[in-house]
Amino acid sequence: MPAQIEAFYDPSTGTISYVIYEARGGKAALLDPVLDYDPKSGRTSHGNAQRLLDFVRAQALQVEWILETHAHADHLSAAAWLKQQLGGRTAIGARIGQVQQVFKDLFHLEADFACDGRQFDHLFEDGECFQIGSLTARALAVPGHTPADLAYQIADAVFVGDTLFMPDVGSARCDFPGGNAATLYRSVQRLLALPSATRLFMCHDYPPASRAPAWQSTVAEQRAANIHLHDGVDEASFVAMREARDRGLGMPVLILPAIQINIRAGALPPADSNGVHYLRIPLNQL
Ligand SMILES: [Fe+2]
Repeated sequence: MPAQIEAFYDPSTGTISYVIYEARGGKAALLDPVLDYDPKSGRTSHGNAQRLLDFVRAQALQVEWILETHAHADHLSAAAWLKQQLGGRTAIGARIGQVQQVFKDLFHLEADFACDGRQFDHLFEDGECFQIGSLTARALAVPGHTPADLAYQIADAVFVGDTLFMPDVGSARCDFPGGNAATLYRSVQRLLALPSATRLFMCHDYPPASRAPAWQSTVAEQRAANIHLHDGVDEASFVAMREARDRGLGMPVLILPAIQINIRAGALPPADSNGVHYLRIPLNQL
């Protein structure tokens, strides 16, 4: 049975969230849901997440999983809010603890912040299989952008996370803590070894002015035309290109707020004694 897939594009962060489901009335997974955040006011809101929620209700779906491909740096996760509304188990890659430790240190988080991924309901090992109702799914470790990145193979589709972008945009950056361009190259080879007709769904699109946002391609299209990783690009030249590009990139606008929420599975940090939740900004560290 092919997976039914509904994509939700957030133009403000370039993120694509997905509802992946069996059929109307069936079981579903949410992938990489976005919590809206206004950095000018420090206010969170649920416009993007509400679109997923409305779709789930309209299709009468039962959410079994709320999946993250990684701890995103460009947007906050709505996993906690959607879990409250719809149920389901949150999940991320088993190596998330490594990412949590790096950022626990950077943000000097509370001493009892656990760096073993326990904030999530489940941690996926590489190759681990799971079900979304009758749909068979498999977690694929694809480190490089971060050490804990996963792709999810669900029925005939693969959600690639931050590895490949659309062919004309290329690949994800590798300069965050624990990132590594050679590792990303090897992860992408793993994806590109899948059957050529495999449907690939992107985590982001940053489209050039000449085209509308897009998020779906195939292994064959990526191997033929990905500007960074088409067939014939070897590891050394990819690494040289990627590292040079990354040196010229600024930090994502939302990295400081996003990471603090996302390593908590989308929960806000504990409230202060006045009941207000605060985020921290480490000065001169990034
Ligand atoms: Fe990312």
